[in-house]
Amino acid sequence: MNHFLIRLRAGVTALMISSAAFAQSTIVTSNNPGLDARTDALLRQMTLDEKLGQLSQIFWYKGAPDDRIEKGELGSYLFLTDPQEINRVQHVAVEHSRLHIPLLIGFDVIHGFHTIFPVPIAQAASWDLELNRQIQAAAADEASAVGITWAFAPMVDIARDARWGRMVEGAGEDPFLGSKMATARVQGFQGNTLGAPHHVLACAKHFAGYGAAVGGRDYDAVYLSDTELQNVYLPPFHAAVEAGVGCIMSAYMDINDVPASGNRYLLHDVLRGDWHFNGFVVSDAWAVYNLTAHGFASDPSDAALRGITAGVNMDMGSDSYLHNLPKLLEEGKVTEQEIDAAVRPILRTKFELGLFEHPYVDESKVDAALHNPEHSALAREAAVRSAVLLRNEGGQLPLSKHIHSIAVIGPLADAHKEIQGSWSFGGDPKEVVSVLDGIRTKLGPTVEVHYAAGTTLQREDQPSLNPDKLSPGVGSLAGQEPDASINEAVAVAKASDQVVLVLGEKDDMSGEYASRASLALPGKQQLLLEAIAAIGKPVTLVLVNGRPLDITWASTHVPAILEAWFPGTQGGNAIADLLFGDANPGGKLPVSWPRNVGQEPLYYNRNLSQVHEDSPKFASYYWDEPQFPLYRFGFGLSYSSFTFSNLKLSSPTLTSDGIVVSIDVKNTSGTAGEEVVQLYTHQRFGSASRPARELKGFTRISLQPGETKTITLHVAAKDLSFWSPGTRQRATEASTYDVWVGDSSMAVEHAQFDVTTTMVQR
Ligand code: NOJ
Repeated sequence: MNHFLIRLRAGVTALMISSAAFAQSTIVTSNNPGLDARTDALLRQMTLDEKLGQLSQIFWYKGAPDDRIEKGELGSYLFLTDPQEINRVQHVAVEHSRLHIPLLIGFDVIHGFHTIFPVPIAQAASWDLELNRQIQAAAADEASAVGITWAFAPMVDIARDARWGRMVEGAGEDPFLGSKMATARVQGFQGNTLGAPHHVLACAKHFAGYGAAVGGRDYDAVYLSDTELQNVYLPPFHAAVEAGVGCIMSAYMDINDVPASGNRYLLHDVLRGDWHFNGFVVSDAWAVYNLTAHGFASDPSDAALRGITAGVNMDMGSDSYLHNLPKLLEEGKVTEQEIDAAVRPILRTKFELGLFEHPYVDESKVDAALHNPEHSALAREAAVRSAVLLRNEGGQLPLSKHIHSIAVIGPLADAHKEIQGSWSFGGDPKEVVSVLDGIRTKLGPTVEVHYAAGTTLQREDQPSLNPDKLSPGVGSLAGQEPDASINEAVAVAKASDQVVLVLGEKDDMSGEYASRASLALPGKQQLLLEAIAAIGKPVTLVLVNGRPLDITWASTHVPAILEAWFPGTQGGNAIADLLFGDANPGGKLPVSWPRNVGQEPLYYNRNLSQVHEDSPKFASYYWDEPQFPLYRFGFGLSYSSFTFSNLKLSSPTLTSDGIVVSIDVKNTSGTAGEEVVQLYTHQRFGSASRPARELKGFTRISLQPGETKTITLHVAAKDLSFWSPGTRQRATEASTYDVWVGDSSMAVEHAQFDVTTTMVQR
């Protein structure tokens, strides 16, 4: 967990930068003059040390003597979750410090606090914005009950490479879906306005480009063209800012050779200048100090200088500002105005949150808040709505409840803690419903439910310095033989009418510091899968994981595959609802699902490459693997079936009001179900090449058996705009546009429209 505390400090370079290299102090805009007046009045009374205290956040487990808080030299704690202790430290800050400034209490509230909801990638697979808002509101309610005032979420990093472990924490590969999710999630955490009761400050992270780590290796450098940065990686951050997010977290890594936490272009020019962000920026843990490790800052003092002048308001973890800014001020390398500009939005946020008026929590209400049955019900609904049905040959699912026996097999079949996913510190594994628990409850005592783990699942980090210990390839079947445990599982399967196999990753296999070179099922799971499939019983594969895995073999040998992601506290109940037809799957993939790890990075919104009339040879191509994913972005099956027809546009030409696209969607089955109607566009020509398809609208609808609904989707002119390397500006360009509407990124219903005049966006 605390690996970031032990990150190595690399060699120090002797790069001297004078403050003259940095223009202007941070811009703070405001639409609330009363708040600004209060903030400025407080700021005027503060000593330098008190100001630097507000710029400092430390880890609770590192501890700080109370007298540091009394002296006003600490603005925030992270990783403190005990309400009693939070009240106690707030008491010290509010009653015993000279200026009575409360602390901000930050925590990674990533997919719930005590009630653990499906991981963010799963929530995105619901394509349900209101659900996403509700989940973060419930998480905020629980977190704020213990005194947490600030969630380090949402993570809005675009992830196009499944090797990157943190794909699990975001909304997937698409900037449009990612932006909509960012907005919904910020609104869920913060409520209608910052300071709304039972809500918390949100923090969009990791600014910017973190998901594009070279090779999918967490913390590795990122190289992004202006085009990718502007059109793919920045839009969800911009959406979060437009939704009023109060905090941005600067990322760890280098982006185009400038560390994100020392990157004045991103933190000042884009965030403050272009987007008028008026909240505050916190660094990721130790990221300011680590500006030395990148070979960017010459020493810790230079790191502090680079951090503050780039636009990082608060240092997380390293106390770099507290220790170094006094001398830098003395030397004239940083000005008091710059320090004030860094402090101002932090103080302002504390006022906005109402912390001065309500610094304490009511400890008697904590238990009820953390065990709210409405949150459990929401967690179950969320896990149902997040699941994606990937295969259902011969309508194997839903399974009948009227069976004699069923085998529930796999290392994750009776897992509790492991199916919560990463960042679940506040959850209680004892409250987690495993898949086995859920199936037992669903079927009751009359059905025999047999269980076998089949194999164990352990993250075994490859000790890179000891080549003798390197395995021939994680997941390779070479040298693997069915062992006693697999044989026992086979016997259990043989003695049952049906088999549900629960395979995938355990919680620590996806997340931060969890990149993988292989996407194979870890350990001996592939062997278990093949041994069970060979028996010839009807097998359903339930996947628990935080990223697409290599299930190419399963995709042709196992008739039913349900992607459950890390489903959280109510996972087992939700999966049982889906398997036995009490709920109908309706989730859709927010990422392209590769056939093979060698296809990564993989994403649907690629530019078209050349077509050769006589041969596919000269198009983008692998000779040993299809170039296309196993399952497309936006794909997901249902127990119902739907047809799309009668695609119409409000006009053949887009006006400044945009265009309205309508389509009839019919449920042609006898089962009520939900469909995600997805709209994609393509700009045929312009000042730069454009992706073959781009998502520009979606809505999740429900249809009764035989019902038809006419669905309308509005495409705004702005939605079609992009930043062009040709003109170096953002515009909706005059061109002809294709539009497709359907049930995935392979939608077939097609129309076209024109934009006659280029509309530049300021
Ligand atoms: C490291 C992670 O990168 C970030 O996402 C998290 O919020 C902070 N540390 C605090 O835990």
